[in-house]
Formats: sequence, C-alpha cells, structure tokens
Amino acid sequence: MQYKNSSLWNEGWLFALTDENEEQLSKPDYPDENWQEVTLPHDWDCAFAPQKEAKSGAGGGYAKAGIGWYRKHFSVGKGDLKKQISLIFEGIFMDCTIYLNGRRIGSHIYGYSTFSQDLTDALKEGKNLLAIRVDNSRQPVSRWYTGSGIYRDVYIRKNEDLRLTLFGGRVDTGNVVSEEAASLFFRCKAENLGRKAKDVQIFWKLKDKRGKEVASVSAGLKIGADTVAEASTGITLSDAHLWSPTDPYLYTLITTLTCEGKVCDERKEKIGIREGNWSASEGFSLNGAPLKIKGVCLHHDSGLFGAAFYKEVWQEKLYLLKDMGVNGIRCAHNPPAPGLLELCDELGFVVMDEIFDEWMLGKNKNENYFSDQLSFGIAEHFTQIAKTEMENMIFRDYNHPSVILWSIGNEIPEQSSPVGAQIAEAFVKIVHDLDPHRPATSACDNIESPPAYRTTEAFLDALDVVGYNYVGRWTERAEYFYEQDKLKRPDRIVIGSENPSVGGDRADYSMSDPLNRNYTTAALTHEALWRFTASRPYVAGDFIWTGIDYLGEAMWPRRGAACGPIDSAGFLKDAFYYFRSIWNTQETTLHVLPHWSFDKKETGKFKSVIVYTNCERVRLSLNGKVIGEKGSASCPRFGATKSWNDEYFRYHPTTGDLHLSFDVPFEEGTLLAEGFVGNKKVKTVCLETCGKPVALKADVRKTGRFYSVVVSAVDEKGRLVPNADAVVTQEAEKDVTLVGMDAGDMKDLTAYPSPIRKMVGGKILAIYRVRAVGSRKKVTFKAPGLKKVTVML
Ligand code: GAL
Repeated sequence: MQYKNSSLWNEGWLFALTDENEEQLSKPDYPDENWQEVTLPHDWDCAFAPQKEAKSGAGGGYAKAGIGWYRKHFSVGKGDLKKQISLIFEGIFMDCTIYLNGRRIGSHIYGYSTFSQDLTDALKEGKNLLAIRVDNSRQPVSRWYTGSGIYRDVYIRKNEDLRLTLFGGRVDTGNVVSEEAASLFFRCKAENLGRKAKDVQIFWKLKDKRGKEVASVSAGLKIGADTVAEASTGITLSDAHLWSPTDPYLYTLITTLTCEGKVCDERKEKIGIREGNWSASEGFSLNGAPLKIKGVCLHHDSGLFGAAFYKEVWQEKLYLLKDMGVNGIRCAHNPPAPGLLELCDELGFVVMDEIFDEWMLGKNKNENYFSDQLSFGIAEHFTQIAKTEMENMIFRDYNHPSVILWSIGNEIPEQSSPVGAQIAEAFVKIVHDLDPHRPATSACDNIESPPAYRTTEAFLDALDVVGYNYVGRWTERAEYFYEQDKLKRPDRIVIGSENPSVGGDRADYSMSDPLNRNYTTAALTHEALWRFTASRPYVAGDFIWTGIDYLGEAMWPRRGAACGPIDSAGFLKDAFYYFRSIWNTQETTLHVLPHWSFDKKETGKFKSVIVYTNCERVRLSLNGKVIGEKGSASCPRFGATKSWNDEYFRYHPTTGDLHLSFDVPFEEGTLLAEGFVGNKKVKTVCLETCGKPVALKADVRKTGRFYSVVVSAVDEKGRLVPNADAVVTQEAEKDVTLVGMDAGDMKDLTAYPSPIRKMVGGKILAIYRVRAVGSRKKVTFKAPGLKKVTVML
C-alpha cells in the first residue's frame, strides 16, 4: 500500500473452518485457543485434496469451499483512539461480514475487489477483537477455482481527520505524449472527517528513477465538514522518458495533503508516461508506434499456493512469460491483485483489466456445463454491485501504465439480447465518464453464431473495441477469421480477446489416439490464427487461453485445466518454445522434442521430431548422420530480402508452418540439431539417450518469503531422465514448513501440502517457508531405488 501511515496487517490471525454458533463466533470472549494460527494471504481450499462430490464441482476444481472465520486480537493505545483507523482488504473470497468487538461493522460481496473498512467507531482502548465471517458456501459459484478466504494482503491505515481517499488519485499521461512534451493531468480526492470545513493544499511531486525531482505542482482546496472534494491540475514535462513493454520506465509520484503547513496524508506510487491509441485500420499503437499484442489470459491462482497472492511468486511467472515473448496480459475474468498490475508496470506488459464473467444471467458452473443443478455467482448480486464494482476497478487501477483496456465482461450471455446492449452501454458510459483515454471492450464469443444466440449488433456497437473470443470457432468461416466482419464493418476496432493456446500435459508424448491432439499437431490451430493476426495490421493482437495452467474448469479426475505453455508448477512445456520462437524476436530459440530416451525395443521405429525455432535453417543429425535440413519458421514470414534482381537478393525458403518436423527412425545415441542464420551456426541442441534413473538431484532457489526446490531424477552421468516418474517423499527439519509439492500434473489429486508426490517428466517442485530466521535448515528427498538428496535452505 502506498499510503503513509499504513502498514501490512497480515500477521497474527486465527482461522477455523466452522460456522457453528455464528452468534458466538464474533464475540471477543469466544474460546479460540485451538484455532489455527495463520499469516495472510490465506486460501483455505488449497490445503485439501479435491473431492469428486465437492459442491464447487468441475468449475471450481472440486475445492472444499464452505464457511470460514478469521479472528484477530489486537491492542489499541489511547493515542490511536483519536485517529481514523481503517483496514484495506485487497481481496476476500467471498461475501464477508466484519465484526469488531462483537458488533457487525460491515460486509463485502465481490471476491476480487479491494475495499476499505473503517474501524474507528467500534474501537476501544486496550484489547480489541476483529472477526470476519467468509461465506463461500453457495456452490458452485465459479467456472474456475476461486480459493476461499482472505487470500490477498490486508493493510491497516491510521489518519487524522483529513486524509486522501482510497484510490481517489488519478493521473492522465495526456493526449499528447512525446519525449519533448508530455502533458500530465492530476486529479486527487481528499476527505474531511472532522466537524469543521478545512482549507487544504495538495502537492504532486514527480521523481525520476534515480530519485531526482523532475516536476512539482500544487492546488488549493476547501473541504466541507464530513465531505470529499477533488483538486486537479496539470503539468507539461519536457524530456519525458516514456513507458513501453520494451522499456518499462517508471516515475515515482508523491501526492501530499497538507493543512496549515502540516502533512496530513501522503500517497506514493509508480506511474508511467505513455499514450495508447486504437484504430480500425492499424490496431493498437503505443507512443505512436504500432504494437501487436502477443498476449496471454491468466486466472488468478498459483498452483500449490491456491489463490493466495504472493508478488514474488507471480514475478517468477511473469519473467517466464516475458522470456516467451509475451507483451500483454488479460486478467481473466476479474480484477487481479494490485501487486500483479505493479509487476506488469515494472516488467512491461500491457493489460486488459476485466470486471465480470457474467451479468444478470448466471452461467452454469457444473461439469460439462450441462448439469441442471443450480449455480450461484455474480448474477445473484449483479444489480446490487455492478456499478460500484465497475467504478472501483477503474479508480483502483487507473494509474497503472500497463492498463490499456477496460473489459466490461467475458462471454456475457446477454450479448445476444436487447437488454445486454443496454447494460453494455451503461458500463461503457461509466468507462467514458471516468477515463477519457482508455477504451471499453467485451470478450464476445457469439459474434457469428446461429441467430438465436448471436451477439447483437447493438451490443457490438456499444463497445469501443470489439473483443473476439475463438474467432476461428464459427465453422463456416473458420479460415477467414476476422476478414468477413471487417469487410462488413470496416470501422470496427478488433482484438482477439481469447483464442486457443497450445497446452496439454507436460512431457506427454503418447500417440495412442492419433486423431486427438498430440505433440506433433499441438501447434497447428494456433499457427493458422497467428499467421493471420501477424499479417493483418487491423487486428490489434491476441490473448491466448491461457498462458499458465490453472485450477478448476476441470473434468474429474483432473483438478485443473492444462491449457497453457507453462504448467502449474512453473515448468515449461514444449509449447513454451513454440511461442518463444515466434514471439521473442530478441533471442534465438531452437527446441527439439520429444526426448531421445526411448526404450531399446523402439529401435528402427519412426519418431516424429518437432523443432520450434526462429533460426532460418535447421540441420538434424543422428549419431553423426544427417537426417535432413529444413527452414524457415518465421512469422510473418519473409519472402525475400531485397528485390529479385538486386545484387543482395536472397530468397527465404519456408514450410509455411511455424514449426519444423522430421521423421527419424529411432536408434540410441545423439540427436543433434544445428540452427543457422545465413551460413552462420547460431545454436545447437543435443538430445542424448540417457540411462535409467539412479539418483535425485535438487536445485534450491530463494524467492522472497519462500525457498523453491526443483528435484529431478538423473542417470549415472547426472543427466535428467526425461520420462522418470518416481514417487518423491520429502522430509524437512522443524521450523521449515512445506507449502506444497507440485509436478504440474492436473491428474494428481493429492493435496498440495502432502509430503509425497509423483514427479512428471523427471521433475517435481517443492516450496518451503522458513519460520525461524538465522539458522539454515535441512530438507531431504527420497524415492524408491534412487539415491536420496539433502539440501540446505
Ligand atoms: C472460454 C472462456 C474461458 C474458458 C475457456 C475454456 O470460452 O471465456 O473462461 O472457459 O473458454 O476453453
């Protein structure tokens, strides 16, 4: 939290999964000595194994859900009693009721929004007891895993009578943004909780990355008793350093509220200066240059951490996506933790921020979506919360340079009804009233469906940018993608808000069902669409479903959906390199799959070898004999360099696919791929037939509050055995808590914190939290028939 006088309030909570005696649970003297001690963020679901009968069902990943209570005992001194004390909850899933000293002081329904709760009136000197009831029992509530509980950070804020309102500060980085003259417009709301009107000053100070002040401006404001007022002013900054995904330069903005020369409140935040523009012919451009969005959709869970948000954990994931060449993230289908947007600002991703997955018509959240069981969710509360939540999202996330687009909803059932257009217009009006620069979109999945549920023209007309989900899904025109609509409606601004990724289970090279997707055909659907998107400037870009595997939206006996190029443990699938080869134009990619450790019995059988690369040519050899040479997989693909009669003319041969494939008869030994650009060899990859697994190997890394250990199975030469599936048991010394183990296998239904789990593709991840500071702790990993390994954390 960026406010002065605010601090994290995550420690010292008690938790129980109970709703017995609701009357009593909020009372200060309720016996809670045996409750579980927890540190927030906390998601109670992820401690349990998925259960087939769980009411959360397939959508919710068979999670526990239910009703849980949190209690926190704390003390307040005399001095603080005179202050305005509030708590800021970044997210509670969902429907919570808050009690202070036995008195109900507030409630909040939406599980993904940030809200503040004033404590002042019910506080007393000395001991206080805060109790929060979290009701996630109305199941199924979601089409994906939500997690349950206080799963994001909580802050406490202490102010005098004058304070800045939560998320009341808005910065526009102008219409006219250039390095020579960027115009910045500041707005800031302040609140006077006292009984007398006050004259206040608001100061805005801008510092560059090195901490040097580059601009400062102020405005006076009179605020009546018990009211909120807004001040605004603008500046022009010469020599501005602009923000972009390739150069995510951030300034620090300090907004100070003073009264009679005394500082009453202050907010510090990072901002970026950039201008986004959308056009029906050129798609999206940033700071005047076209930017094709190479995006991924992401749900909010983090594998073994469940829904609990840890910035350092997400930072690791976003580093991977950055390396894959991703420059855009769609928050599916709800506002993310504030920390995720901070990371997008810092690392350079453009963001589509989304509010809901349904409006008044609820979606079915059961297995296959065909059950007639009742579903719960936002639809139950829509009329009550929709307007406020839409506004809250815009206010909270306004100052993030990464946010370029507000989405009013995903695959909204009302898109095909007249009332849907009216709601869309109302939402879009909120966006336009609050934000003059960023457009509104909605992710539509029925634009060309049969008339009964086709998206209405009025709905599409209400949007500034039309989001297409699964544009190739409408069979009659699958290969035309956006083209026919574009001819009919040349003014439409178009983006692929959701399209198939390349997923599947990591290290699964089975070919048992040749008609189904397998590793040899995985990339095909994406290739066709990306070739189209990359070569049509009017398509702003694409967000694939999804960048990372997620929990929920499963089908028993799976706990989640393996849709992405990265699995739930953060291990890279082969598809990662497919995307890297077409999206990351800075780095050379040469990736060969499957492995070359087949059984000797397979000798002589043809194996399909797939290569993902951005080299111009690849030569493949087996045990020194050349199998073949193929090129090139670039996209949009080059026909030639220079014109045909030019001295330097060069023709670039290509398969037209975005991958290369070779048929190779298996023989133990070394499969070598050499990548060339022109005549220069730029990369070499070597797959060797390895021996049986003999030992475990462990690599430790510290990531913020956690240690992550990647355990792998190796042969006698220390090489990773790519098809090892040993069952690994971990033992940790006291004071080390195992958060969980994961090998990314959605079919593994073991509870994440279990100390025993099966590896996949020779690898497994274990995450620890070390409680005692100072001393180093030992953890050991064992597996039947393999030499154990011990590492220090
Ligand atoms: C989309 C939907 C996503 C997810 C996906 C699964 O239609 O927007 O939330 O359900 O399908 O493939």
